[in-house]
Amino acid sequence: MDTLTPPANADPLDPGQYRDVLRPVDEASSLPSHCYLSPDWYAAEVESIFMRGWHLVGRADRIPDPGDYFSFEIAEERVLLARGADGIVRAFSPACRHRGLLVAQGQGNCRRFVCPYHRWTYSTEGALLAAPSMDQAKGFDPAGYGLVEFRLDEWAGFLFVTMDPAAEPLADALGDLPDLLGRYRLDEMVFTRQKTYDLACNWKCYVDNSVEAYHVPSVHGKSLQPVAPMQVWHYEVREHYYSLYGLFPGTMGVLKGERCFPPIEGLGEKEVERHDLAILLPNTVITATVDSIWWVTATPRGPGRTFVMVNHAFPRKTTERADFAEIAQNYYDRFDMVNVEDNEICELQQVGLTQRARRPGRYSDHEELVGAFAAYVTERVLGRSG
Ligand code: FES
Ligand SMILES: [Fe+2]
Repeated sequence: MDTLTPPANADPLDPGQYRDVLRPVDEASSLPSHCYLSPDWYAAEVESIFMRGWHLVGRADRIPDPGDYFSFEIAEERVLLARGADGIVRAFSPACRHRGLLVAQGQGNCRRFVCPYHRWTYSTEGALLAAPSMDQAKGFDPAGYGLVEFRLDEWAGFLFVTMDPAAEPLADALGDLPDLLGRYRLDEMVFTRQKTYDLACNWKCYVDNSVEAYHVPSVHGKSLQPVAPMQVWHYEVREHYYSLYGLFPGTMGVLKGERCFPPIEGLGEKEVERHDLAILLPNTVITATVDSIWWVTATPRGPGRTFVMVNHAFPRKTTERADFAEIAQNYYDRFDMVNVEDNEICELQQVGLTQRARRPGRYSDHEELVGAFAAYVTERVLGRSG
């Protein structure tokens, strides 16, 4: 029996505490609670994980026309994705170069970004075009005050952004992911819907939950389990991402018995019985099923808050069907149900993690990726890799 001892005053960044986290998964313990609660640990995660590497921010086809834009968050850093009048998509910080107000939020279309505070005005390519009553500012050259631009790259219609000038090229960071997902013809997908949630939990609760099917029978007993039961899932730690795949017939996109779309063109006999989740570290899961894709990003807004973005895309041909909206609703309804089931679990877990009596646990063989993810986070935070 484990008796309650007073909470240790240990430094959360002392490596000695993580020996059990870094063991092989069948011997490992899960992360100590302070990794889900401590502002110091969180600050180290932001710098060592989120301010490095490439982050999937959305689809280029979400902003097809000049002046289209949408905003994104990478660990509280806002990113503004905009297609310029020249047709090129760029990624900016939306913080105004005057006194920092956000010049744009949400999504829309505009000819210029006009800061609501003092009306400094930027082109959709990020240049400062007008700054009222600035004639007195000595040596002020608007050319030096465009929106700060981030590195952006694209793969298969997905836009990626990095805050790290030294990040390796995107193609190197993705490794063989294009081979894993090639058969789903991602280039031909069209973004159709985003739903967001603001959760009272640490971002790792959400990722942990997303990379195991151990919880499917209990948490999704009436929704996902009848379609994709726990037993059909397989887990692989790959060099550039984690792979979670399920082998079963039918789509994973709707509840059992609901109307669905035909499979993606070109999928072979065996391929229509395989469903792939690619976990892009640190916080995005792309799921490709036989007729559509969705991807979910869980970005932190502090140690105890997580902003979740759930996105759908379908093959262009599917979106052009007369009955697209009607049948697509079956997919959205299924997600609205399953996501809420996961959200409630993650928030309850966060409450449990704040309990002084809580101790790290052990992993089942369905949690290989949870263990690998805990080790990845720990190694990044402690500065041992990457
Ligand atoms: S903060 Fe944007 S114009 Fe002043
Ligand atoms: Fe779930």
